[in-house]
Amino acid sequence: VKLRPHDTLGRPLHDLRISVMDRCNFRCPYCMPKETFHENYRFLKSNERLSFEEIARLTRLFVDIGVKKVRLTGGEPLLRSNLADLIGDLTAIEGVQDVALTTNGVLLAQHAVELKANGLNRITVSLDTLDPAIFKQMSGGMGDLDRVLDGIRAAQEAGLAPIKINSVIERGLNDHTAIDLIERFRGTGVIVRFIEYMDVGNRNHWSLDRVVSSRELVERIGQRWPLHPVDPNYRGEVAERYAFDDGLGEVGFISSITNPFCGDCTRARLSSEGVFYTCLFARSGVDLRAPLREGASDAELSQLISNTWLKRGDRYSEIRSSLKNGEQPLRKIEMYYIGG
Ligand code: GTP
Ligand code: 5AD
Ligand code: SF4
Ligand code: SF4
Repeated sequence: VKLRPHDTLGRPLHDLRISVMDRCNFRCPYCMPKETFHENYRFLKSNERLSFEEIARLTRLFVDIGVKKVRLTGGEPLLRSNLADLIGDLTAIEGVQDVALTTNGVLLAQHAVELKANGLNRITVSLDTLDPAIFKQMSGGMGDLDRVLDGIRAAQEAGLAPIKINSVIERGLNDHTAIDLIERFRGTGVIVRFIEYMDVGNRNHWSLDRVVSSRELVERIGQRWPLHPVDPNYRGEVAERYAFDDGLGEVGFISSITNPFCGDCTRARLSSEGVFYTCLFARSGVDLRAPLREGASDAELSQLISNTWLKRGDRYSEIRSSLKNGEQPLRKIEMYYIGG
């Protein structure tokens, strides 16, 4: 009989988000600001990152205790060489129902076909705006919008459907361009999702007045194209879905600030160096790489993972929303390291 641990708030472990690469070819100010992530920043050495074998072994153990969905993230996961091989290893694991990838899209055009061929089910591309100047700014001067758009097209042609676009909205920066994103992708099968700007990490100068609430965006978009809410695809879906009344698709809203979704959070995260986190905002995690490399058995590793989940009581977003203005939560993990 297999153990299916539930945490202290009764939540099972259902999704595993694996960061395969701490580096990124962008420097989005809300995630990896250039002042910190400069030329001399010490990223992990390649032998400090989990190997594909190690990732596959840990994934098997996570699947044994309940995981069904796996998402690869970064930094930028396509910077990891031969990533498609890992996709093949993961899709071959019995019990894995869904393997998805989150990318900034720059390297997607050259990889889309082999990713699909190795069994990747779905892809999510981070794209905050279609305005070239704002895009440049929001990627820290390093992004090339046309390459991202080529990547999305290539992914569509390769049959990686449905493609989702994640767009972080920051007031005064790109909120006025949200409409353009919808205009462009409505009717193409690509699902645009807007994310409330979050206080991830410690370095991104987050403040509440830069957050545009989902409610405000729903109103603005609904004035142009009437919308109606639709049911979630599955319990605990992060995005609230709205369909266009004219049948030309849907748009999603991820309201981690104004409507936290910790109650249904079944997500575990694994950093590229093998630290297991039970919350996007965790202050610390459990190192799985050391025992792995010191020869721990599957049973021992599985025990460690289960025990960590059993003790879990994280609900950071809910707690943050109850803090008074100006009150700062404690030091958190950085987003580039844990992959969102
Ligand atoms: P689907 O499998 O397509 O439903 O993916 P998903 O909805 O889990 O979406 P994705 O992984 O693309 O997450 C979208 C964004 O939601 C992330 O980039 C984060 O900004 C935010 N997000 C995802 N998971 C969490 C979470 O557990 N906590 C918080 N606070 N935000 C999250
Ligand atoms: N707030 C909301 N989303 C963020 N992401 C990165 N930083 C933030 C933030 N501060 C998102 C990116 C990408 C995913 C990896 O995380 O847009 O979709
Ligand atoms: Fe890279 Fe994504 Fe972070 Fe931007 S948000 S720096 S693309 S990992
Ligand atoms: Fe889950 Fe933590 Fe995000 Fe809440 S804040 S939804 S517990 S990852």
